[in-house]
Amino acid sequence: MATEKLILRALAGETLPTPPIWMMRQAGRYLPEYKATRAQAGDFLSLCYNPELAAEVTLQPIRRYGFDAAILFADILLLPQAMGADLWFVTGEGPRLSTITTADDMINLKPLEDIHETLSPIYETVKILRQELPKETTLIGFAGAPWTVATYMIAGQGTPDQGPAHKLKRENRAVFEALIDMITEGTIAYLSKQIEAGADVVKLFDSWAGSLQGADFIDFSIKPQQRIIAALKEMHPETPIIAFPRGAGERYAGLHAATGADCIALDDGVDPVWAAANVQTGGCVQGNLASRHMVTGGEDLVRETKAICKAFANGPHIFNLGHGITPDANPDNVQLMIDTVRA
Ligand code: CP3
Repeated sequence: MATEKLILRALAGETLPTPPIWMMRQAGRYLPEYKATRAQAGDFLSLCYNPELAAEVTLQPIRRYGFDAAILFADILLLPQAMGADLWFVTGEGPRLSTITTADDMINLKPLEDIHETLSPIYETVKILRQELPKETTLIGFAGAPWTVATYMIAGQGTPDQGPAHKLKRENRAVFEALIDMITEGTIAYLSKQIEAGADVVKLFDSWAGSLQGADFIDFSIKPQQRIIAALKEMHPETPIIAFPRGAGERYAGLHAATGADCIALDDGVDPVWAAANVQTGGCVQGNLASRHMVTGGEDLVRETKAICKAFANGPHIFNLGHGITPDANPDNVQLMIDTVRA
């Protein structure tokens, strides 16, 4: 079955002459049109829960650059909020949440049947995008992977070393494991609804996978993601899934088989030549230009972009950054990256 969506072809294992391209955080503060719509919404969370405006910012980078995929505009912390955590954003600092550290905190969370009430505007955004996106543009839904979501729910904010989550894992294993289980089940329900609303693909962001050592990496990054992927594949066998265990290093090898994901997203700490030989052999890979090139541009950007395309040219590849684009990026450098990939 031929599809016009190049990203779906790469995810199905096809080696394309030019890799399709999209960019993590492609709707974001480096774009003046994003800042204008965010101001219109009032604040970041109001933007996430306003389906018309969230669809608008999702479409902005598609109109400006013609990326091959759009990613739903939302946040990985909306699921904890729907589960009953308080969530707010401190300007210039980042997210804040009420913390989960005891069995009582767990009991105060909502039953998972109730999460969709809070999350229904997100499904509405997906439905609008389904109507408005060009037919060749893939729509990607997403959620955080359980470990990464748990690190924010336990600490109540972003942390450099995920210390509070590691401490709870050590000192109150039962509460920690119950939280991971609950997020895992919630994520299955949330992503399944995104797919029903019209997402072509879903992606799991495990931004803090790299801080899990030894058996913990298997037990709390890989196994929960494997469980989510198996459950989604059972309900939606046609929907490809991308997993992004950021910071996995050498443990990236073999992750298609270990997780069941159709594509493994690579961060920019991974050498593309190594990854072609050790990760891409298992299926499609996504990545992995360092996002600083979107700030610095020039010949370095062109050289690195070409090196990544060349390294992955003999297998299925989706071009992307190794992490999200930053607010200080220059929009012209994004165009230079796209032109280099498509040249
Ligand atoms: O364009 C896209 O990629 C889609 C939307 C998206 C956002 N966040 C919007 C956002 C996606 C996929 C995410 C994922 C996300 N959110 C992750 C995983 C990926 C990663 O970056 O590691 C994490 C850890 C979060 C949690 C989060 N959200 C943090 C830590 C922050 C503050 C840091 C920052 O960049 O300001 C956010 C806020 C956020 N999420 C913004 C955007 C566009 C910036 C908010 C603003 O407009 O002020």
